[in-house]
Amino acid sequence: MTKRIRDRVIYAVVWLACAAPLLFLVYWGLNDQLGANPITTGLRFLGLWGLRFLVAGLAITPLRGWFGWNFLQRYRRTIGLWGFAYVALHLLTYIGVDQFFDWNTILKDVLKRPYITFGMLGFVLLIPLAVTSTNAMVRRLGGRRWRQLHKLAYVIAPLGVLHYDLLVKADTTWPWMYAAILAVLLGWRVWQVRTRRAATRPVSA
Ligand code: HEM
Repeated sequence: MTKRIRDRVIYAVVWLACAAPLLFLVYWGLNDQLGANPITTGLRFLGLWGLRFLVAGLAITPLRGWFGWNFLQRYRRTIGLWGFAYVALHLLTYIGVDQFFDWNTILKDVLKRPYITFGMLGFVLLIPLAVTSTNAMVRRLGGRRWRQLHKLAYVIAPLGVLHYDLLVKADTTWPWMYAAILAVLLGWRVWQVRTRRAATRPVSA
């Protein structure tokens, strides 16, 4: 198998792995296997996978740094875009299926329920990242500005975790697990930037 074909096969596998939760959701939905409250189950499922892909996207650079898994870089955009897709479907389910496009209630929710406020803020911040994800947009913005803009991902994922933590009523173990993973990933990034800056700082006489 040539390298080009192998790369394509791996890319297709990654793409399918990202699409798999959605395909399962559709399958379960069509076969009446989403439990007594299918709307809430679907809404939660989409939100959870959105968060998982956003965190997975943020893990790629640290994984390259720790284990030298540079091949992962190629899939960062795909994983991030799938994260956006799941969150967008999560929001659409909330607006269309959960609230039946009742814009007054939706606006009240956004203003009065902190978990919805933080979730919405996370979604709004995700839009510029999704819009600028193409190669043409990277060229248009220039690498430096593009990288600056995409640092928003470090705000969006914690907003998603905060949203999750605030809405869980009883057991907050899972939101805290995600918070801990994010703390490690973001902590590593801060440490790395500081080390790099210290290394390039001119030595004073
Ligand atoms: C970055 C954006 C977002 C992320 C990562 C996210 C993630 C999540 C997660 C992980 C859950 C809990 C899943 C579970 O219980 O297993 C959830 C639930 C939920 N989210 Fe989001 N979400 C986001 C944005 C939004 C937005 C914009 C809205 C609506 C305006 C929203 C509305 C809800 C609702 C209504 C629930 C279910 C609450 C319940 O169970 O009663 N989310 N979301």
